[in-house]
Amino acid sequence: MSARIVMKLTVVEAIATTPEVLRLTLVHPQRPELPSWEPGAHVDLRLPDGRTRQYSLCGDPADRGRYVLAIKREDAGRGGSLWTHANLTGGAIAHVSHPRNNFGLAPDARRHLLIGGGIGVTPLAAMARRLAATGADFALHVCARSAEQAPLLPELRAVCGDRLRCWFSSEGARFDPAALGAPDDGIHAYACGPHGLTDAVQAGLTAAGWPEERVHVEHFVPMADENYKPEPFDALIASTGAVVHVPADVSLLDMLRRHGVAMPSSCEIGVCGSCECGYRGGTVIHRDVVLPVAKRQDRMMPCVSRARGTVTLDL
Ligand code: FES
Repeated sequence: MSARIVMKLTVVEAIATTPEVLRLTLVHPQRPELPSWEPGAHVDLRLPDGRTRQYSLCGDPADRGRYVLAIKREDAGRGGSLWTHANLTGGAIAHVSHPRNNFGLAPDARRHLLIGGGIGVTPLAAMARRLAATGADFALHVCARSAEQAPLLPELRAVCGDRLRCWFSSEGARFDPAALGAPDDGIHAYACGPHGLTDAVQAGLTAAGWPEERVHVEHFVPMADENYKPEPFDALIASTGAVVHVPADVSLLDMLRRHGVAMPSSCEIGVCGSCECGYRGGTVIHRDVVLPVAKRQDRMMPCVSRARGTVTLDL
């Protein structure tokens, strides 16, 4: 269901960077260069049934010849990572979209603090490579159960040197966001990993006086709120005046498509940003984890977000 261009790339290397994480190197079979990307970007990996999964690019953004992904095997997941681990071996073809970025480095930052938990280190690995190559001031904090379970650790050590700080719970070491204290002038923080880590970073830095716009977070998993009960609502399409009724058990994205509105999408769980659209009026209930707070006044993700009463869509 994605409108993003999909390339057929060849797996030239598939190695285990930890017992659970597969590191894939992909190249184009004919072209020497792939579409360019910035640190923090992800691609969609298309599965044989047409569904997609989003994975951050974790290689060197300056290397146009290859994409590198690190994919954790999730035994209790939705099946995408199990298929990937079983099938994307050397010589296999992977269907991969052009990159998209919701988690870029702040161009005006004078110092960067990167905090990654588990597989959440992948977008930060690309950031660290760029920052190291450009001589920027940065530090990377890696949180994992142990060194053996920390993805990409040898290469991160080589890239970061003494700017890498590891927090392994098996050794009793835990990253404490409160220890970061008040923000220096020009510092930005970037966190990616499990909700427990990113929530703690956001809460800790907010309590220490960090402005919201200097704390950047990327989530790999959708918002969890078991108490939320979806209600029906209506969507008025501004360009045509058509009203689309959205029942409680169907997404706005699905209902728009059923009414002939072509909508891009990818994850359909509110983590990738592909389906973003504008709205002009109404009370939107934002249920995604990707849209920045500053954009929520007039943008929404119709794959998961809903509304009260009637929302007027900029479509
Ligand atoms: S399709 Fe990914 S956020 Fe909506």
